Amino acid sequence: IQGYRALSHGKVILIGEHSAVYGEPAIVLPLHEAQLSAHLKIRNDSVRTIDCEYFHGLIDDAQDNLRNIQVLINRLSRDFSLDGVGFDLSITSSIPHARGMGSSAAVAVAIIRVFAQLAERSINFAQEFEYAQIAENIAHSRASGMDSAAVASDSAVWFKRDETISTFGFETPGILVVADTGITGQTRTAVSDVRSLMQSPAMSIAHKAFEGINRLGQLAYDCAQYLRQCELSQLGIAMNQAHDILSELSVSSAELDTLVKSARNAGALGAKLTGSGRGGCIITLAENGDKADTISHALRKSGAVRLWQVPLISKGIR
Ligand code: MEV
Repeated sequence: IQGYRALSHGKVILIGEHSAVYGEPAIVLPLHEAQLSAHLKIRNDSVRTIDCEYFHGLIDDAQDNLRNIQVLINRLSRDFSLDGVGFDLSITSSIPHARGMGSSAAVAVAIIRVFAQLAERSINFAQEFEYAQIAENIAHSRASGMDSAAVASDSAVWFKRDETISTFGFETPGILVVADTGITGQTRTAVSDVRSLMQSPAMSIAHKAFEGINRLGQLAYDCAQYLRQCELSQLGIAMNQAHDILSELSVSSAELDTLVKSARNAGALGAKLTGSGRGGCIITLAENGDKADTISHALRKSGAVRLWQVPLISKGIR
């Protein structure tokens, strides 16, 4: 029996969560250290099964929480002329779910890649992105596309809503430490709470929220420059500022603040929440590997349930 395997990876937002919703730019990094694999075995009948963390059985029997995958697979089958082909699809992932690490986009991208192999089609980044968005728009109504872009890209992504996605290159000696609070994030409520602040009838509250969003946008431009010029301490300061603004926008949490404080006390150049907040992960910047180990140790003691160390390098090509 023939088998096909395709990989994808997670992502972290370096800067620009929440402000991206309002058209400000964001920098998103692929997280190659958190991987997902889709394995597909052809059957000699037309039965289609899926085996993943949440469901094992016939794809057609999956409940609403796999509708994104059902719709994507139907679309790929049609576009790639695979209707009637039966298979057993299994997904294994080291990307924790609902932590702002792009786990749902990673499932979609790996499935797209494994179907492309099966159909002997070569698909480019733009096509992967378009297909992934079919699934993401179902999983997270009105997904900005940031996750699909970063998960389909091997390099850092410069993301601005409704504009062409570009990637860019840099090479720094810095290490990004990603730490998971172990708590599920709440993207929908966090995004809608920020919107409530922006639309607050109290002018001072609305004005402050607008200022925060604009400032986050400016910080994204600054960070792109700091990355290119390898100005790590400036980058760290910008990350700290972003976290403080996100806290004012009400999307941090006690657990996120504890980890951010712990990283800063352990010598991080900067630390901030990443993703929609209220749970999920923080990212923190270490000057080098030794510092990253010290910070990781402190974060573990402060309650981080999982850690990744990521070199702050991007090839800048897809
Ligand atoms: C969530 O990963 C990022 C947000 O900016 C929402 C979005 O851009 O869709 C909070």
